[in-house]
Amino acid sequence: MKADLLSFQHHSAQQIRDLLALAADFKANPAKYSQALAGKSIVGLFEKPSLRTRVSFDVGIHKLGGHFVYLDCQDGQLSGRESLKDIGANLACWADGIIARVFKHDTLIELSQGAKVPVVNALCDLYHPCQALADYLTLTEAFPNKSQFKLAYVGDGNNVTHSLMIMGAILGCEVRVITPVGYEASDELIQLAQKLAADNGGKIVISTSMDDLKGVDAVYADTWISMGDNTKFSDIEQTFMPYQLSSAVMADAGAEFVLHCQPAHREQEITSELMDSKHSLLLQQAENRMHAQNAILIELMK
Ligand code: CP
Ligand code: NVA
Repeated sequence: MKADLLSFQHHSAQQIRDLLALAADFKANPAKYSQALAGKSIVGLFEKPSLRTRVSFDVGIHKLGGHFVYLDCQDGQLSGRESLKDIGANLACWADGIIARVFKHDTLIELSQGAKVPVVNALCDLYHPCQALADYLTLTEAFPNKSQFKLAYVGDGNNVTHSLMIMGAILGCEVRVITPVGYEASDELIQLAQKLAADNGGKIVISTSMDDLKGVDAVYADTWISMGDNTKFSDIEQTFMPYQLSSAVMADAGAEFVLHCQPAHREQEITSELMDSKHSLLLQQAENRMHAQNAILIELMK
């Protein structure tokens, strides 16, 4: 049976640790994997813009000896012509895998139902699993002597939040999610993460108070307005400004590192001085997207 990577919620801690080890090995010894996808083609279907995801998949697949086909669906030119199931079935006639960035998680499921090849979630409304794998790879590099971390996510409860909670819970980490009132993560996914944490020795803390940052190892920010959300910045500015990350906030928390999936909005969710400081892991995360994704592709296509 073919496997997809739509989220990590059904992975064990060992399976995630194996993927992290594979990503680290690819990073250290890329030549060893230069033929891993030889003769294979992967389609990347994008309903939303992307810099990091698109380029890291394209370059990463090239480094594995494979071929990437970018399918731009941002103007909706594919919608209405045929069902998602039929799109998936047709893509699988030529391609060995499908990467998709979509508005709705159900789109991934429907594509997968038609396609006899693996489907990888490159971001949807609920999850950003490739980002989370890269982020935990980055944390293992930043804290080589720790196998579990205390990570705080601050800002809008969104796709990135969910994937960080789920992976952190499975890895036995403490993940604190601090959002303004009314911008919490999905109740259903909080409960899932809490169950996974209980099973794996992790902890999920849900809060609206910046006081709960105290004592974490690292702090994570994302945009306050995700792609596809037409909220005006001026309408949320006052609500979110108390959640802005700065060097002062980091010092108060005692946190060593700051992470952000990017695109970042300087002087909104993160100050420029923090983003460009020695505490910033942002570019390491961006680089690790490619290594983490290549581990996922090697594993799915072997
Ligand atoms: N972090 C991330 O997914 O970036 P892009 O939206 O640029 O792909
Ligand atoms: N939460 C953001 C992540 C971007 C990588 C969004 O969905 O736009």
